[in-house]
Amino acid sequence: MQRRFPRPWEIRRLVKFRKFIWNGKVRRLSRAMTIEDLRKLAKKRTPKGQFDYVEGGSEAEITLQRNLDYFQKVQFSPHVLRDISAIDLSSQLLGEATDLPFGFAPTGYTRMMHVAGEVAVSSAAAKAKIPYVLSTMGTTSMSELANEVKHGNNWFQLYLWKDREKSLKFLADARSAGVETLVLTVDVPRTSRRLRDVRNGLTIPPTITLKTFLNTLTRFGWLKDFLSTEPLTFASFADYHGTIADLSNSMFDPTNTFEDLKWLRNEWSGNLVIKGVQRSDDVRKAIDAGVNAVWLSNHGGRQLDRSPSPMELLPEMISRFGEEIDFYVDGGITSGADIVTAIALGAKYAFVGRAYLYGLMAGGEAGVDRAIEILRTEMMQTMIFLGASSLQELTPDLIHPRSH
Ligand SMILES: Cc1cc2nc3c(=O)[nH]c(=O)nc-3n(C[C@H](O)[C@H](O)[C@H](O)COP(=O)(O)O)c2cc1C
Repeated sequence: MQRRFPRPWEIRRLVKFRKFIWNGKVRRLSRAMTIEDLRKLAKKRTPKGQFDYVEGGSEAEITLQRNLDYFQKVQFSPHVLRDISAIDLSSQLLGEATDLPFGFAPTGYTRMMHVAGEVAVSSAAAKAKIPYVLSTMGTTSMSELANEVKHGNNWFQLYLWKDREKSLKFLADARSAGVETLVLTVDVPRTSRRLRDVRNGLTIPPTITLKTFLNTLTRFGWLKDFLSTEPLTFASFADYHGTIADLSNSMFDPTNTFEDLKWLRNEWSGNLVIKGVQRSDDVRKAIDAGVNAVWLSNHGGRQLDRSPSPMELLPEMISRFGEEIDFYVDGGITSGADIVTAIALGAKYAFVGRAYLYGLMAGGEAGVDRAIEILRTEMMQTMIFLGASSLQELTPDLIHPRSH
């Protein structure tokens, strides 16, 4: 073998160094390739109490884990030799055109995770042409959001109050903020026990531990933002006089029944979605009460522990009621492949909670943009290799849930 001196210019032609990005946030986010990467960034930048509030579930967190495990067990059965030169992820949802088959689920206290809060999340959703559901427990009001995000497809999530006048006031506010779709969450008859929050002292009212306090001091960026912006308030209850404990007791009404759902149906002429249903007899009652869609959910494993992943319920619900009503699903979605699975098994739409909150905590609105981009890229990749070029081509035969 003949040897020669290495020629640096030949090496230079072969190796191209990555350009250094001077803006730290842009650099960090551009390197995040998965929602798990965003989660790790979020964990570094957010105080433990707030991070655990997002990540945690109720009791032993069995359901929280089940939601995630379901998707790990899915197997795909791909088509080959199909024209996948153009992939279309768009669809129609309650009369609105959307560019992607997932939206952002309601999450309370969003400004506690990052000061950019609901406005950042809604604005990222508007750019991507997907819906965002503002929570009753939001830290930005409906009117503020409508002013800040002019072209957003903003829905509103309601808890039915004991005090019907208050519920009516929410409906009036929603109407005047241009909200067309109301989501009634029905899986919170009372607050649940989230043990991470109890341990961290992130309870109502807060009883912060010294450890939690000291940890907050190490998240300097978060602390600076928190102390130099408007204090955190529940936007919907700015005029509420009483303790936060009183507030949650009067809000989560354990006396609600399907009669109250019928009452709401009469009062609200826009779209009505029921969120948190897990049984087919309840689906039947909800359809009979006149809802426009059923959102299968276990609240991201934050309410009744040991309930199943909504994905496990989906096939039976579709076979029984699929001709009558649309189903949405959420819980444990951390990848575009998970969304593809949900759509293939018959969901009209999927929703994510923590996935976008990790983006928000990792880098404000740019972080939420990144979360959307990651999910979109993963969906495209999955569909290319499944041989499906549109959402209509995502059919149940593409999925084989594994039994082990
Ligand atoms: C931090 C946090 C706050 C939430 N707050 C609400 C809420 O105010 N109202 C509601 O209906 N659901 C709420 N949820 C549940 C979500 O809407 C959604 O059902 C759940 O997050 C989906 O699971 P995933 O986080 O695994 O995607 C919350 C979830 C999280 C993580």
